Amino acid sequence: MLVIDFGGQYSQLIARRVREARVYSELVSHRIGPDEVRARNPLALVLSGGPASVYADGAPGLDRRVLELGIPTLGICYGMQLMALELGGAVESNDISEYGKTEVRSEASPLFAELPAEQVVWMSHRDSVTAAPAGARVIASSPSTPIAAFEDADRGRYGVQFHPEVIHTPNGQRILENFLYTVAGAPPAWTPAAVIEEQVERIRTQVGTERVICGLSGGVDSAVAALLVYKAIGDQLTCVFVDHGLLRENEAEQVVATFDGHFHVPLVHVDARERFLARLAGVTEPELKRTIIGEEFIRVFEEEAGTLGDVRFLVQGTLYSDVIESGGDDGVAAKIKSHHNVGGLPADMRMELVEPLRLLFKDEVRRVGEQLGLPERMVWRHPFPGPGLAIRIIGDVTEERLELLREADAILLDEVRKAGLYRELWQCFAVLPAIRSVGVQGDERTYAYPVVIRAVTSEDAMTADWARLPYELLETISSRIINEVRGVNRVALDLSSKPPATIEWE
Ligand code: XMP
Repeated sequence: MLVIDFGGQYSQLIARRVREARVYSELVSHRIGPDEVRARNPLALVLSGGPASVYADGAPGLDRRVLELGIPTLGICYGMQLMALELGGAVESNDISEYGKTEVRSEASPLFAELPAEQVVWMSHRDSVTAAPAGARVIASSPSTPIAAFEDADRGRYGVQFHPEVIHTPNGQRILENFLYTVAGAPPAWTPAAVIEEQVERIRTQVGTERVICGLSGGVDSAVAALLVYKAIGDQLTCVFVDHGLLRENEAEQVVATFDGHFHVPLVHVDARERFLARLAGVTEPELKRTIIGEEFIRVFEEEAGTLGDVRFLVQGTLYSDVIESGGDDGVAAKIKSHHNVGGLPADMRMELVEPLRLLFKDEVRRVGEQLGLPERMVWRHPFPGPGLAIRIIGDVTEERLELLREADAILLDEVRKAGLYRELWQCFAVLPAIRSVGVQGDERTYAYPVVIRAVTSEDAMTADWARLPYELLETISSRIINEVRGVNRVALDLSSKPPATIEWE
């Protein structure tokens, strides 16, 4: 299914909701022409929301011939208005906008099958459709929006003024599924197993009998990408795991145990801890830390790649969210950015990229990981930045300070897991500031570091809120860290949202 993007804030969400209904969907620009649509042979089209008015200067349009291909089409909000305008209906600008929950009354229609005649939906619009397209009938209305939905059953054309993709429309997912399964006849067949089968085929076709290399970071994306490639081509793949010494407790051991021990993926484990620490000695400026780590990483990776002989392909865990680059009101841009999980690999390596996750969102990657048998602990691991603990230590990165932070972090995560809250949090970690303060322990005066707890909830890391951890849990974490980690005499809690703060501390 293709989601034609008019730059609405929910376009990506529509694509995700369709995928949740187990129908594969991709986001495409509204500039797409009828030939390209036909070539892609979709079972259905969804026209997304967009700017405030179809009459605005430079409002994005759609080649009308796309609507005449005979493909079942659902227009949402702006998409609905555009259909009305292009297909013989009418749209009028209102002085007042309608925003928020509204009750609509619907008529019998496949779109509303098995749903109550009155239901709450989420509206966010200023213009309204005042005449349905030629041949279409009105199937839902609200007091302020007489044409809240229309249907042209013969041509498979539907329009809804409200947003079925947002959670504030409680029956929204069902409405989308009705459109997909009943109107468009698209089966719910897109499962993790189907993704794996398709990707394995693609990888085999792409690499043939050539050698392939993959950098493992310990995170879920590179792990799933590596396993997919391994499933496709077996020992033609070599994974390289660079331990830069900035990982969390037991992380390196887990990667080695999982890939080498469990899956038997050929793995080169590079212990580069001393190299990285030597280069970081005395560096306190966060951007400089990042640059040094990025550079050193590339150097180590290149050295290892060099020893493997003629390697033609490089695996990267690029995700669909990295691929979608929104270009202002133009929606999806044609240009595709290269995103590097591991801090940027050199352009002169001249290896071709294998990117088996580039059509998947993060949660889909996790489900594929589960299906491939990746341990739960790895699949659901919180995001961890490439520069690792170096950017959670303010000031000097020394072995001693790393060890202190690792211990505190392990206690924090242990208690959060025991409390059953790990998966509810986007990220949770300990931070080591560069200050010390006076405390008293036993009869002794101490002069030691505080540890800061950072725990956030988030959808996508663009914004985040501090997590309301229970007091009892905080109490346990605090007393364990202070009692068990030498060199710490206080625990503080970060109560900042993003923005204005960021998730990491650096
Ligand atoms: P901030 O701190 O900017 O972080 O709110 C947003 C998200 O990005 C992660 N992050 C990184 N991930 N390499 C990564 O792969 C990096 O260099 C990096 N820096 C930050 C951070 O953990 C959070 O999830």
